[in-house]
Amino acid sequence: MAAVRCAVLLAVFLLNVIETAYSEPFIAIIKAFANTGVGIVIATSNADVPALASDPNFAKTWINTNVVPFYPASNIILINVGNEVTLSGDQNLVAKLLPAMQNIQNALNSVSLGGKIKVSTVHAMTLLAQSEPPSSGVFDAKYVDVLKGLLAFNNATGSPFAINPYPYFASMGDTRPETKPFCLFQPNKGRFDSNTKINYMNMFDAQVDAVRSALNALGFKNVEIVVAETGWPSKGDSNEPEANVENAKAYNGGLISHLRSKVGTPLMPGKSVDTYLFAMYDENLKPGPLSEKSFGLFKPDLTMTYDVGLAKAGDQSPESPSNNTNNSPMWCVPKDGTPDAKLQENLDFACGQGIDCREIGPGGACFEPNTVASHAAYAMNLFYQKSQKNPSSCDFSQTATLSSKNPSYGGCTYPQSS
Ligand SMILES: *[C@@H]1O[C@H](CO)[C@@H](O)[C@H](O)[C@H]1NC(C)=O
Ligand SMILES: *[C@@H]1O[C@H](CO)[C@@H](O)[C@H](O)[C@H]1NC(C)=O
Repeated sequence: MAAVRCAVLLAVFLLNVIETAYSEPFIAIIKAFANTGVGIVIATSNADVPALASDPNFAKTWINTNVVPFYPASNIILINVGNEVTLSGDQNLVAKLLPAMQNIQNALNSVSLGGKIKVSTVHAMTLLAQSEPPSSGVFDAKYVDVLKGLLAFNNATGSPFAINPYPYFASMGDTRPETKPFCLFQPNKGRFDSNTKINYMNMFDAQVDAVRSALNALGFKNVEIVVAETGWPSKGDSNEPEANVENAKAYNGGLISHLRSKVGTPLMPGKSVDTYLFAMYDENLKPGPLSEKSFGLFKPDLTMTYDVGLAKAGDQSPESPSNNTNNSPMWCVPKDGTPDAKLQENLDFACGQGIDCREIGPGGACFEPNTVASHAAYAMNLFYQKSQKNPSSCDFSQTATLSSKNPSYGGCTYPQSS
C-alpha cells in the first residue's frame, strides 16, 4: 500500500490527477483511486490502435472493460489513444489515430460518458520541426495534415493536446555553459526571443511555448496543452553525464515550484498547464541505456530515490516510521547561489507588499549583518509567513525554498506563524 499512498500524495499535492502507464490500463490502480476524487488518465496501447480504428465494437469492448465498471467511483478524466505514435515512423499507424479516437469517443457517447471523459493522444516533442526561439515553433510538415485532423477533434470535443517535453534531451550534448542552469530552473541569464521580446528563464517554458506557437500557427488557439510526461533521469551510463541525482532533483524540484507558483508560461501567463511527472518508479526491466530505466522518484523496491519535495515527512520509505511533523515550523530561505541582484529584487518586492521591514532597517534587530543576502532572507521569509504560508509565496522565480532550519541568530528572530 505504500506505493499507492505515495502515488496519491504526489497526485494530490501537485495536480490532483494521476496518470497510469501507457500499456493497458492497470485495473488495480484504477480501483485503488476509487472515491478519492483524484483524476485519472488512462491510455490504450499503441498495439490496440489498429483494431480500435477499424472496429467500433472493439472500442466498445475496451470502454466496457476498462472504464464502465469503475466510473464514476474512479474519476477517469481522459483517455489517451496511443503514446508517441509518430515516433514509431509507421505512417500507416499514424493515419489510424484519428479513427481510433473517434471510435473511442463514440463508445463513450453510447454509454452517456461523452463529454465527461475526454479523448486525446500523446505526442513527442520531435513533432516540432523548429522550437527555438519559442515564437517560431512549428510542426514538421510531414505531420501537418494528420495533425489538423487530430486538432480539429481536440477542438470540437474540448480535449487537450498532450505532449512530452523533455529539457533533459535538449541538454544532452549541449556544452554551452548556460544550457545546464537554463534546463535545471537555476539562475541564468535567460534566452531572449527577439520576436516577442520575451526573455525565457527556463527550457520547460520555452518548450511548452514552442508548442503553443505551433498550435496557434495552425489556427488552434483554443486547444489546451497538457504535459503528459516530463522528467529527468537520476542515473545514466558513462556517456550520459547529465543523468544524475543532483540534476534530477534540481529539474523536478524546480518544475514543481514553478508549477506551484502558478505564473504559467510567458505565452500563457497565469494559466497552469496540467503537468505529469515521469515517473513514479524506475523501470528496471526496460531495455536501453541506464538513463531510460532511471526516471523514477522511487525505486522498484518502493524506497525513495531522492526527495523532490512532494512527500510528507515520514514517507521516505515504507520502513521509515512516520513522525508527525506535518505542522513542524518552516521558514522560507533563498536558494544557495542566488545572485545579489536577484536577492535585491526579492527584497524590494517583499518589502513593497505591506510587510513590516523595520527590523532590517538601521537600528533594527536584524540590520546586522548589513548585506543584501541577509536582508533579503529576512524579508522573503516574512512575506511567506504573512501569506498564510502559501507555498507559491516561497518561490521568488525559483530562487527560494522552504527549510525546517530556523535561520534566527543573536537578537534577530525570523518570524514563524503557526
Ligand atoms: C474550434 O471550435 C470552435 C467552436 O466549436 C469553432 O468555432 C472553431 O472554428 C474551431 N477552430 C478550428 C480551427 O477548427
Ligand atoms: C523521527 O522519529 C525518530 C524515532 O522516534 C527519531 O529518532 C527522529 O529523530 C525523528 N525525526 C525527526 C525529524 O523528528
